[in-house]
Amino acid sequence: MRVAILGVGTVGEAVARILVRNASIITARAGKSIEPVVGVVRDLNKPRDVAGMHLSTDLSAVLERDDIDVYVELMGGVDGAYAAIKRVLERKKPVVTANKALLAYHRDELARLSADVPFGYEASVAGGIPIIKTLRDGLSANHIISIKGILNGTSNYIMTSMMKGGVKFKDVLKRAQELGYAEADPTFDVGGFDAAHKLLILSSIAYDIHARPEDILIEGIENISSDDIAFAKEFEYEIKLLAIARRIGERVELRVHPALVPKDKMIAKVNGVMNAISVAGDAVGETMYYGAGAGGNATASAVISDLIDIARGINPPMLGYKAPIAPLSLVPKGEIQSKFYFRLNVEDAVGVLAKITKIMSEHALSADAFLQRRDDENSLEATLFFITHTAFEKDAVKFMQILKSSDFVRGEIFMMRIEE
Ligand SMILES: NC(=O)c1ccc[n+]([C@@H]2O[C@H](COP(=O)([O-])OP(=O)(O)OC[C@H]3O[C@@H](n4cnc5c(N)ncnc54)[C@H](OP(=O)(O)O)[C@@H]3O)[C@@H](O)[C@H]2O)c1
Repeated sequence: MRVAILGVGTVGEAVARILVRNASIITARAGKSIEPVVGVVRDLNKPRDVAGMHLSTDLSAVLERDDIDVYVELMGGVDGAYAAIKRVLERKKPVVTANKALLAYHRDELARLSADVPFGYEASVAGGIPIIKTLRDGLSANHIISIKGILNGTSNYIMTSMMKGGVKFKDVLKRAQELGYAEADPTFDVGGFDAAHKLLILSSIAYDIHARPEDILIEGIENISSDDIAFAKEFEYEIKLLAIARRIGERVELRVHPALVPKDKMIAKVNGVMNAISVAGDAVGETMYYGAGAGGNATASAVISDLIDIARGINPPMLGYKAPIAPLSLVPKGEIQSKFYFRLNVEDAVGVLAKITKIMSEHALSADAFLQRRDDENSLEATLFFITHTAFEKDAVKFMQILKSSDFVRGEIFMMRIEE
């Protein structure tokens, strides 16, 4: 089977290398050899370890070649990658991609275009963890109750360093960039968008639901302070950026945000750049998957497993549905329910606490725990921390708006959800 690799960067280079290094076991498992024939790049002068594979900068010409059996898209980006893949599928040639951003926006069109052509995207979510096949094939007998994942290694590395090493967000981010764990522009990772893209892909498989990033609740870890870390430690929590999909009746809740997670939960113990996903099915119960979420080799491992499936003639429906199911709708952001944590600075005066609890009760919120701290004896301000019982997102947001406009709150109010 002759393969073209569109994009020979971190992942593409690893794919070319492993196809050569592990050729004999791959051939035995695939039933035929899988050969990287040509790679497409922008700059032919960059040094690359591609085991003798021919390189070209002419993407259009490579897309029209008749001697290529399968195309692997590893360029990244949305529009250019979509146009290239669309052309390949129109020519009825199989495609493998690791491009989660592309799938977050175009998976429905791609599912239609690839109805009778194999389309592999195992590498698009959680790198080396085979979660797409697990959800689509291994758990296909189940109604999926929930998916809860740590899907972004950069954010998890930062949160782990903040929790364990007492390092501030800005300083850990700088170190993560130096170590190559974080991009120069980290917004995509620390802002929760990368995890959201992956969650949308998983939720399409679990629920056949067709949401886009802008439809769902996405918050990042940028505003977590050392005060929040100290609170989490005192109350036996870890803080994790979680991607959550949960079925509630005929509706599905989708959200990405940092959350306080009890320390003894399995997902709370996932540290550093590692990813983990917990999937609960109505028949199987709770299952858990752990592994490297990124990196050239781990991601290439997933890409090549798709290539082996194609060589074997395996062609499951892209999102796992041969026929439509009764549609599920998305829970509107305001109707998502959880317990909340609030941190705010207030004027340190008699009666302030009573005023806050009154506003809380007017907005269907009730405090489960409360803590007050004053760093400096002479300060006229105090930091308050609240944990609430389960409430609606819209009530928590309204509560914050009213507090912000009050004359006793100083500065921003920080809110985080609690996931038990
Ligand atoms: N890196 C990971 O750990 C990881 C994990 C999971 C998924 N992914 C996904 O895998 C894909 C590739 O990621 P990567 O980290 O390997 O990216 P990368 O290192 O930036 O490599 C991209 C490659 O594509 C080439 N390229 C980009 N635009 C091109 C164009 N218009 N025409 C021709 N060649 C083009 C680049 O050429 P030049 O080298 O000449 O610039 C480069 O070789 C992305 O969709 C990413 O989201 C990556």
